[in-house]
Order: sequence, then structure tokens, then C-alpha cells
Amino acid sequence: MRTSPHGSDELVGPPDARRPGPDADEPPVLRAVGLRKHFPVRGLRNHAVVHAVDDVSIDLHRGRVVALVGESGSGKSTIARLLAQLVPATSGQILLHGTDATATGRRAFGRYVRRVQMIFQDPFGSLNPIHTVRYTLTRSLRIHQGRLRGAELEAALDELLTRVQLTPPARYVDKFPHELSGGQRQRVAIARALAADPEVLLADEPISMLDVSIRLGILNLLRDLRDRLHIAILYITHDIASARYFADRTMVMYAGRVVEQGDSESVTQDPAHPYTQLLISSAPDPDDLAARARGARGEAPSLVRPPAGCRFHPRCPFAVDLCRTEVPPLLPVSDGREAACWGYSQRDGRPEVGSVLEAYGARPGAAGEVDR
Ligand SMILES: Nc1ncnc2c1ncn2[C@@H]1O[C@H](COP(=O)(O)OP(=O)(O)OP(=O)(O)O)[C@@H](O)[C@H]1O
Ligand code: SF4
Ligand SMILES: [Mg+2]
Repeated sequence: MRTSPHGSDELVGPPDARRPGPDADEPPVLRAVGLRKHFPVRGLRNHAVVHAVDDVSIDLHRGRVVALVGESGSGKSTIARLLAQLVPATSGQILLHGTDATATGRRAFGRYVRRVQMIFQDPFGSLNPIHTVRYTLTRSLRIHQGRLRGAELEAALDELLTRVQLTPPARYVDKFPHELSGGQRQRVAIARALAADPEVLLADEPISMLDVSIRLGILNLLRDLRDRLHIAILYITHDIASARYFADRTMVMYAGRVVEQGDSESVTQDPAHPYTQLLISSAPDPDDLAARARGARGEAPSLVRPPAGCRFHPRCPFAVDLCRTEVPPLLPVSDGREAACWGYSQRDGRPEVGSVLEAYGARPGAAGEVDR
């Protein structure tokens, strides 16, 4: 293993011989079909629920990255937690290599976690401050790979730390989390996930709490794991630019539903769904989107009583009656791309979708004049 000559700490090295590369038409490692998660709302009568995720399907392939983007509260983390089986789905199915993987007991969950690991946003919170790197990684190796001892254990620790570019390993292995930088801690968290030798990594905003200067290093590390270990990665982010840089496919979420999906380049460069257009126009600052969308179209929709039909219709300048009554399915837009917008259907009375920004006018406030 050596460092890239391109300035970043991107790894360049041969693929892992133990894991042959993926074929183009290989079936997904992990597939979710029609996932739904409704959280009960405490204190509200009539069995009110938060519609956090509705009818979401995802395929994760070996050696491929799927980015999940969308504004705060759109259901991204809930999807990751459902796929990790940290929370049970209200309905829908999770398939690992084509077989129903719903873990019904501790043993089945243990087997599942060995294949599907999660990386969290806050590397400090996810590492126990009273344990050294050695303790954290040894524990994970023992849980997932049995009782390694002596030289075998040291070699496994060395390999893990080298894989996440904490080299030389001896410099890091006996450190406590508070003795490491944010980026180094996230590398330890990734090493802990790799100790399970997983096929799937679910990375929930893995760089958002890190200093901007070290974000690229972590993304390049994840990319290296994709390319050399052929791990399937779900990458959750607010940052469209990083999705474009890092992910093969991008899925855009709005209010618990997927509104657009396709190859990252065309979704980010030529967004089809009106919400994606708004999201892209606000990049790279997602907070700008929230402010802009709220300023433009009132509050984000209630997920307890989500809007009927297309959930984006109260904000959409193109909405027609059909949008207010029927939920649009994901419809083909172009090769491999889909958008959940009636504008791409052949239905009578379909809306005519154009540029959201032109429809809103240059000033966000101008959108307030658009008919609801
Ligand atoms: N345990 C829970 N109980 C009740 N509601 C929940 C629970 N977890 C999440 N929610 C709700 O589900 C919705 C989706 O939340 P989620 O955390 O998945 O969003 P997100 O897209 O990850 O947002 P962010 O970008 O802020 O991390 C939100 O309305 C949230 O309040
Ligand atoms: S045109 Fe209709 S279906 Fe399409 S995003 Fe707007 S409200 Fe939704
Ligand atoms: Mg989240």
C-alpha cells in the first residue's frame, strides 16, 4: 500500500485477492423492498404516527456506492437504521443475497451484523472514551472473528489500522479516543466496522462532523474500501457535491419518500424532480435549502399528517389537481433514471414541469406569490 501522488491520501493498491471484483450484472448484496417506518407519536390520540419512511426500495451492490441525500428530517437515518436492523420496519422486506434477512433473535442479528456494519456521524460519541484503540478493535475482532491471540491478534490489529491509514499502527494502537483527532477517530470507527469483514457499510453522514480539511481523506478511504474490498456502501449526506464525487448512484429523499434516483452525475447535473432542482440550487450549503424552501413555501410538511398525493405539492410551483390527490410512483426519466413526479407520466391532466428557480423567480420570497 502506498500513498497517491495526487496530493490526497487516496490509497492506490491492488484489489484484495480474497474478494474478486463484481460483475456488471451481479444481483445486489443487500436489497430493501417497500420499506416503511411509522413511529408512534406519544401523547397524541387516534394512533397518530410519524410517517418517517414510506415505500422505499434500495439495492446495494458490491463495489458500488449509493448516496442518500435530502434535507433534515427526510428519513435518511431511519433508512440506515432499518437496513442495520436497529429498528424494526413497519412493513417491507430486507433481503441479503436474495434471502429474507429479518433477524428474529440475537444469533440471527449477530450473523447479520457481521455482514452489514454501520458507521455513525459522531466518531467521538461512537467510541468509548475509557477504552484504547487496541481494546475497541480487539473486542470487535473477537466478536466477529473468534478468539485471536498473540501474534495473530497483533497482525490483525496491524492490518486493520493500516487499512484505515493509521500508520505506523504502533503509533495509534494504545491511544485513547481523546488523544486522536476527529478524522483519526472516524478511521478507528471504520476499522472497528471492518473487523467484522462486512459486505455492506452503512455510513450515516460519516464526514459531516469532521473538519472540512480532512473530509476528503475519509471519503477517499471509503472509496478505497469500495474499490479494493468491493464493499457495498450506503453513503448518507446533506452534501450533494460529495455525493457527486463519491457515489455511483444517488437517491434523493423528500418527506420519507424517494423522489429521484439515478447515476450521480446526471441526478446532480441535470435534476429532473422539482425538489431535486431546489436541492441542487442550494448546494453546497444545505441549510440554505431549508431556509430558502421555508421562506419560499412555508414549513416542511408534517410527517404526522403528510400532504396527500405528492408530498412536495405544497411547495411545488407546477402542482395540479392530480398532484394533490394521487401519489406519483417513480417514473422513468431517461436511461436508468427515475423521478416520482406526475410530470413524467402520460396521465391526462399531468403537470408541465419546468425550472423551479425560474418559476419561483430569483428571489426566494417571490415564490410566496405562487398559488398553493
Ligand atoms: N425514534 C423516533 N421516534 C419518533 N420519531 C422519529 C424517531 N426517529 C426519527 N423520527 C422522525 O422521523 C423523521 C425522519 O428522521 P431521520 O432522523 O430519519 O431524518 P434524517 O433525514 O436523517 O435527518 P437529518 O438530516 O437531520 O439527520 C423525523 O421527522 C424524525 O423526527
Ligand atoms: S409537479 Fe406534481 S408530482 Fe411533480 S413534484 Fe410537483 S407536485 Fe409533485
Ligand atoms: Mg440523519
